[in-house]
Amino acid sequence: MREVLAESKVSLLRFRFLSFGRRIGKSLQVKNLSKVTGAAIESVKINAIRPELRGNRLKWVKRRRLGSSLLALGANAFFFLVGARIHLWIRLKKWQSWEVACFRLLYGRAHLAVPEGRRTVCVDEIPGKSLDDYADQGILTTREIEAAGRELSRAHGLWCEELHGYWSHGDPHLDNIIYDSRTDRARLIDFEVIHSKSLSALERHADDLFVFLQHLMGLTTREQWIPFALAFISAYDRPMVTEKLRERLNMTNNWGAAIWWNLRTDYLLRTEIIERVGALNRALKPRRCLCA
Ligand SMILES: Nc1ncnc2c1ncn2[C@@H]1O[C@H](COP(=O)(O)OP(=O)(O)O)[C@@H](O)[C@H]1O
Ligand SMILES: [Mg+2]
Repeated sequence: MREVLAESKVSLLRFRFLSFGRRIGKSLQVKNLSKVTGAAIESVKINAIRPELRGNRLKWVKRRRLGSSLLALGANAFFFLVGARIHLWIRLKKWQSWEVACFRLLYGRAHLAVPEGRRTVCVDEIPGKSLDDYADQGILTTREIEAAGRELSRAHGLWCEELHGYWSHGDPHLDNIIYDSRTDRARLIDFEVIHSKSLSALERHADDLFVFLQHLMGLTTREQWIPFALAFISAYDRPMVTEKLRERLNMTNNWGAAIWWNLRTDYLLRTEIIERVGALNRALKPRRCLCA
């Protein structure tokens, strides 16, 4: 009961924030408010990341910039406003240990991450290139997408103490998935955000699928969209999560959700998003058994 009350207070607070935001939007007469907000959010980088040769091994050194905790606070407020149930770690130590723990959970000793000093994490190079690079070069196929589906499903089967349940990523867009063509294996990187612990594992897992599909939608042509989306869902192969995902596949008319869709789909036209969401919904509808 207390949880239901807390949840409705949160919704009310978010509603007030959003109405306030809409009023500001109207009074500023910013036509493309979502694009402006999105661009502002994207331009705020809380980390600096670069590859470095250490001995004979290539490492990726990720460092939280000065003032990053303040930026993380701002980003969390934004997530709250748009109804995204994720947050960035504010405390540097928590962030470092989450990145390290996720690497250890997902890859054991095969790929390590270690904290360095107060604001840096140093991670082993993951072989391959990101799915976003594949899409940029026009060479993304169902092979890479299926590998991503399999890997996300494997990762969702790992138990995580911090989440008191099965692990989830929180931000598995295509830049955060590296595909190795030699072994036909995809791997997740970038454990910067974490899902809200109040969500069930099923909700968190459906949200991960949702994030991946939103980005995929933004990167594919109309013809590619349905075969690619279905290839991902079928390789992921967890019907209960797919069912939960279907509940998320709707286009609500609120300002926060519209900004989030814009950002997540790389500013695909709203009419196009609606069309593609509808097409996916139809493709996922359980087919009636025609047998006698
Ligand atoms: N361990 C790694 N192996 C290979 N590439 C990496 C690795 N870590 C980061 N990168 C590259 O750097 C990019 C940004 O790193 P990421 O951890 O996703 O940080 P950000 O928070 O800036 O998105 C990735 O999209 C990827 O191209
Ligand atoms: Mg990233």
